Parts: sequence; structure tokens; C-alpha cells
Amino acid sequence: MTPEPAPTVSQLLAFYLEAGVDCALSDEPADRLSEVEQPAVPKPAASGSIGPARAIGPAPAAFVTPVSEPTVAPDAAIATAREAARTAGSLETLRDMLEKFDGCALKSTATRLVFADGNPKARIMFVGEAPGRDEDIEGLPFVGRSGKLLDRMIASIGLNRSKVYIANVIPWRPPGNRTPTPLETQICLPFIQRQIELVDPDILVTLGNPSTQTLLSTREGIMKTRGRWLNYDTGTRAIRAMATFHPAYLLRSPAYKRLSWQDLRAIAKALALATS
Ligand code: URA
Repeated sequence: MTPEPAPTVSQLLAFYLEAGVDCALSDEPADRLSEVEQPAVPKPAASGSIGPARAIGPAPAAFVTPVSEPTVAPDAAIATAREAARTAGSLETLRDMLEKFDGCALKSTATRLVFADGNPKARIMFVGEAPGRDEDIEGLPFVGRSGKLLDRMIASIGLNRSKVYIANVIPWRPPGNRTPTPLETQICLPFIQRQIELVDPDILVTLGNPSTQTLLSTREGIMKTRGRWLNYDTGTRAIRAMATFHPAYLLRSPAYKRLSWQDLRAIAKALALATS
């Protein structure tokens, strides 16, 4: 049999990219396979038994989506996040606090903090889930492919980034764009809640399921929640909130753009009433 030619470096990189490995987590490569604990040497079979059960070792770390260990205990991290967010009197202070906050392990794998973009005095605020690769590079939310579609959605109701405010529930990119864990979401939640409180928009738009379920405290899916007016309670005031499809979902399922357009029209109408 003719042996397969060894893959070139660019073929290997293309393979990794397709598998979702699109960022380096450290400068030096780590040989995860050598870190795998060797399974215990099976004991000799007791007489009469058919054979020893095969010891199953842990999955090689190289094939597990990285979930970094937080350096701070989860309860302490949530408490610190709540306290920091509560005491931030301005968006600038909140941003500084997030830059210094070490309670969320995502910070250590992300390139930088992705805090927000747009106008802090905007009457309408859009909130997505978490930054992706392009946002991690630029330090701004929604600048990649789905961001370009979000810009077009915003333009369709006569607005642009100077008239809206955009942020995410999670301000650091999860490695390989994996879904944030419930704990990571809980730790970051006080910061986005405070951000909404400080911007104090007339209309809050949640983009997609994760930010809708997290911020609007619902377990229903986006097909049911979208297009309906709900209240987002800051503790001192109720803000009118509407969920709509995440632009990344619309890129994959363009047929839903029709419904998204209905949501945007309702949002534009409510915004006109609120600001008239
Ligand atoms: N998806 C999000 O939810 N947020 C971003 O900033 C980019 C993509």
C-alpha cells in the first residue's frame, strides 16, 4: 500500500480551522497527550472471571473544548461581580472594573475585553451573546459577518452605530466560539445588567436565544419570545424589551429575515413613540 503523503502545515492548519481551532491559547504548543494520566494497570483477573474490565482513562485533553479553570471560587466571583457592578457609577468605571476583574476564566483566553460600541446616550440598546473571533481582535462587538448584517438591520430602521448602543452578555470571547457555560454567564450577568441600567435606553433588543433567556428571564425559545413586548426590570424602572433573531442565525436561515423585519418595524414604531 502506498503511504499517504504527510500533510503540509497549511493543510493541517486548514483542518484545525474547520474543527473550530482558530486561536492560539499560548505561545508554546502544549503536548496534551503526554499529560493524560496513564490508566491503572489492570489487576490480574480473579480466577473464574472472564477477564479484567478495561480501565477507561479520561478523554485526551486535546479533544476537549477548553473550559479554563476559574482562578476564583464561583460563589466569590459572582459576589465580587455583583458588588463591583453595583458600585460602578458610570460606564467608564464599569469598563475599568471589568478590565481588572479576574473572576471569569474567559478573560485569560480572550485577547481583550469587548465592552460595547455605539452611543452611550442612545435610546435603543442591542445585546448579543458573546464576542467571536473578529470582535476579540478588534475589541468591539458585532464587527464580523453577523455584525455587518446587524448594521444592515439597524440601517433598515433609519439608524446607525452612532444612534444605538451595542453590547454582549459576555464581554470576553469563549475559546473557539464555544457556548459560554451557565457559570460564566452568571458571573458576567451583573456587569451587563449594570450596563443596561447606566445606558438606561427606552428600548432594549435582545439578539437570539441566549441573551433573551438570560436577560428576560424566560425559558421559552426565540420562536416564541421574538416579536413580543416584554419588560426588562432594572430594579428602579421597567424598560420595554423585545427579542429578535440573532443575525448569525439569520445568516444561516435567511427565510427568517421576513419575521425579523416585522420585529424591526415594531421596534422602530415604539422608538418613534418613545422619543416623540
Ligand atoms: N455574536 C454575538 O453575540 N456578539 C458579537 O459581538 C458577535 C457575534
